[in-house]
Amino acid sequence: MASPYAIRILGDPVLRQRASDVTEIDGRLAALCQDMYVTMYEAQGAGLAAPQVGVQKRFMVYDLGAGDGPQVLINPVITESDGECEFYEGCLSVPGLRFDIVRPSTINITGLDLNEHEVEFEADDFLGRLMQHELDHLNGILLIDHLDEEQRRGAKKALRKMAMDAPSGGLDADLAAASRPKFGLFRS
Ligand code: NI
Repeated sequence: MASPYAIRILGDPVLRQRASDVTEIDGRLAALCQDMYVTMYEAQGAGLAAPQVGVQKRFMVYDLGAGDGPQVLINPVITESDGECEFYEGCLSVPGLRFDIVRPSTINITGLDLNEHEVEFEADDFLGRLMQHELDHLNGILLIDHLDEEQRRGAKKALRKMAMDAPSGGLDADLAAASRPKFGLFRS
């Protein structure tokens, strides 16, 4: 089955805007989430935020690969964060590149599920990282924004080179497909 959405790639302005709160949890949103699961699994990602498929709303889908199946978190808010850890992070919207990024190690997060039930949980390790990464997307922030000066220079260089090497002369979905196994917050 073809993916219902093309994942938006760095350079697309939609990735740089702050998404707005979900105000209605209805069948339309549920259907959108279903489509996003397909897109996420096809890209072998562990998480996907709505802006990555061009939807300016505050929700994400994810699957840690632990057998729980796909999950949705709507209007997520980090209420507490603690500690610090480094994680080799990638992003489906920044294909082919991964970076060691420092973020809080443990967070508390609240949000809503598709039944409009409030959910609250503590997340550390991979889930904690995934939540922080996807929540960044809802605020128009990409992982490259967490790099230091030197890393950023390297990243820009690599992106320029990839853009030049790409058959169409730009970073596009074909390139994303070609480099998939090397990046992203993967399911293990
Ligand atoms: Ni991402």
